[in-house]
Amino acid sequence: MYRALITGVGHYVPERVVTNFDLEKIMDTSDAWIRERTGIHERRFVEGDENNADLAEKATRIALEMAGRTVADIDFIIYATLSSEYFFPGSGCVLQEKLDIPGVGALDIRNQCSGFVYGLSIADQYIKTGMYKTILLVGSEIQSRGIDLTTRGRDMAVLFGDGAGAVIVERSSDNNRGVLTTHLHADGRHIKELWCEDPGSVRMPRLTHDLIESASIWPSMNGRYVFKYAVTRFPEVIMEALNKAGVSKDEVDLVIPHQANMRITEAVRAKLELPEEKVYSNIHKYGNTTAASIPIALSEAMTQGLVKENSLVCLAAFGSGFTWASALIRM
Ligand code: ACO
Repeated sequence: MYRALITGVGHYVPERVVTNFDLEKIMDTSDAWIRERTGIHERRFVEGDENNADLAEKATRIALEMAGRTVADIDFIIYATLSSEYFFPGSGCVLQEKLDIPGVGALDIRNQCSGFVYGLSIADQYIKTGMYKTILLVGSEIQSRGIDLTTRGRDMAVLFGDGAGAVIVERSSDNNRGVLTTHLHADGRHIKELWCEDPGSVRMPRLTHDLIESASIWPSMNGRYVFKYAVTRFPEVIMEALNKAGVSKDEVDLVIPHQANMRITEAVRAKLELPEEKVYSNIHKYGNTTAASIPIALSEAMTQGLVKENSLVCLAAFGSGFTWASALIRM
């Protein structure tokens, strides 16, 4: 059986930095409140006509270069996002057109903050069965155009940012390296605790003039409820991966959790009794970039030398659905 090896990683964040002080000017919030509750200092927002697949394309080209591949080597695209350009089709087709590789399959997945790990699991299965050789997996988000940047939406608006990360996943015969195990979970009983209700197909018509004024077109969250579940599910799903692979916590070089919130990451780290240097965090710079947060963090960790060839890395995510997932990788 083949192994799925990550051979290239790249990320891109928009140049425009939006600090907590910038948000203070447009809503009733404060730098102190945001830092204390979330650990976020600043985030990136797109400007002008920059779109979701534009960010993804930049991350992809960096990942391809690291892998020593060209766009012509890509034989499948998996695209994780909750903020695609259009209601349909998904961003996978938009990116494919930009990369100019017509005919290559493009699969869009909607698993919110867990999207990247779900996508990695899909890539892993396709590689293992021999169906594809070189898969481009992307997590990319433009959250800034989908949040209520007024005092009404401040509890959500201060959390999110824009960005993209991409990895090249390749077929390998090296049995010691690659994706070792992945674990995917969901519990739809919690849909309404973290969601964006409208516009959706439960309504006819999908969008009305009244809805435009309503809070239901903006994401909403029961923050304390999400916190409680996240700090339980993250450690559980990390341990599930380690137990399946038969490795101990001490053997893991780096845990890369979805960057939801510094307090969640810190609670997960404490529960697992991991040292600070073994749990990656960049939430202070980018906020929560949803499906993009893990590949951005992985890309940064590689650039910083925290992840090298043969490093044992555990990715873990939790998000809307609720969905949660983990992947253990020998890089
Ligand atoms: N600035 C200033 N005040 C605010 C803001 C803001 N941006 N947002 C809310 N407040 C106010 C509230 O109105 C409330 O005021 P009140 O006491 O007068 O009613 C007060 O701050 C406290 O609000 P809470 O919602 O109780 O604040 P809490 O301490 O629970 O912190 C937070 C909120 C940070 C969201 C917390 O619940 C949390 O960490 N939740 C985890 C969920 C999360 O991080 N989700 C990320 C996205 S989901 C994911 O990626 C998994």
